[in-house]
Amino acid sequence: MSEPVVAVRDLFREYKTTVGLLRRKPRIVNALNGISFDVQPGEIFGMVGPNGAGKTTLIKILATLLLPTSGTAQVLGYDVVHHERRIRQHINFILGGERGLYWRLSGYDNLRYFADLYRLDRATAETRCKDLLTLVGLWDRHDERVEGYSKGMKQRLHIAKALINEPRVLFLDEPTIGLDPLAARMLRELISEIRSRGITIFLTSHYMWEMEILCDRLAVLCDGKIITLDSPANLKNHVNGLEVVELQVLGTLDEVADRLRARPYIDTVSLSSSGHAQTIRVQTDDAQATISEIRQSLPGIDLSRLVVRPPNLEDAYIKLVGGES
Ligand SMILES: Nc1ncnc2c1ncn2[C@@H]1O[C@H](COP(=O)(O)OP(=O)(O)O)[C@@H](O)[C@H]1O
Ligand SMILES: [Mg+2]
Repeated sequence: MSEPVVAVRDLFREYKTTVGLLRRKPRIVNALNGISFDVQPGEIFGMVGPNGAGKTTLIKILATLLLPTSGTAQVLGYDVVHHERRIRQHINFILGGERGLYWRLSGYDNLRYFADLYRLDRATAETRCKDLLTLVGLWDRHDERVEGYSKGMKQRLHIAKALINEPRVLFLDEPTIGLDPLAARMLRELISEIRSRGITIFLTSHYMWEMEILCDRLAVLCDGKIITLDSPANLKNHVNGLEVVELQVLGTLDEVADRLRARPYIDTVSLSSSGHAQTIRVQTDDAQATISEIRQSLPGIDLSRLVVRPPNLEDAYIKLVGGES
């Protein structure tokens, strides 16, 4: 085995905040609660988990933007607390919703600026900017101001910017969030291309199917703890033998969910809303009994939109985090 690129041992991070408007009381948030894992060279390592699980906190610590409260984290063999500058030379990162581009400059001039920050000599900077803009598919638009770029183009420019120092590890926090499906697909292809160049990638995302395509291994983070770490294929074993009954209605399904949760043949029930519609997803080893129960709970319901399907990685994830997604 070669040296791990990231080695985390028993990592804790707490935030001190206050609650209450008039009488402010101190409150401690335990964002990371004793995390240990390794990332191997060349891997795409994914981290998923509900909002507030601690994903961004972890990425910030590994990117040396935030100190741990206790425990250790090494990147490329260097300690994040004591060798911040060494690590920064060899890594780069994109944090979710990051600005950091100059909208009135062209894509090319943005990159040149960041190349100068890394003190690349002129010739190196020029070739590297051209190569990177070509890699991310922006060379034919390199002279245009960034303000005219689409969201997907801006995100690809962020990637080019993050590659300007030829990093060995790239940390990407929810890189496809807010992108349209086509732009998100281009970004995924780009991430695969970057990995094929030997760069190790640490990635977080909310989209399980995306993580399934991209990641070699996935850690599920919940309340600051890793509850599982495995390949996407092995994670799916958690839902072996189950079926998923899924139904969307206009209105609420909370009562149905409560009734179903009490049934022995039901494994996991989850609800999600979009607009006025609510979707219930039931993991069960008896789809027929589940459907009759739904029929009894909702007399007169149109069941034509009810779907029975095999479970996917997202269902495994929902089961692992206990029904919340
Ligand atoms: N600067 C901060 N001050 C106080 N609490 C914070 C701060 N940043 C994050 N938190 C809290 O730490 C927990 C983990 O947050 P975060 O790492 O952003 O999770 P995720 O990226 O998985 O959504 C959450 O409970 C969040 O509210
Ligand atoms: Mg986050």
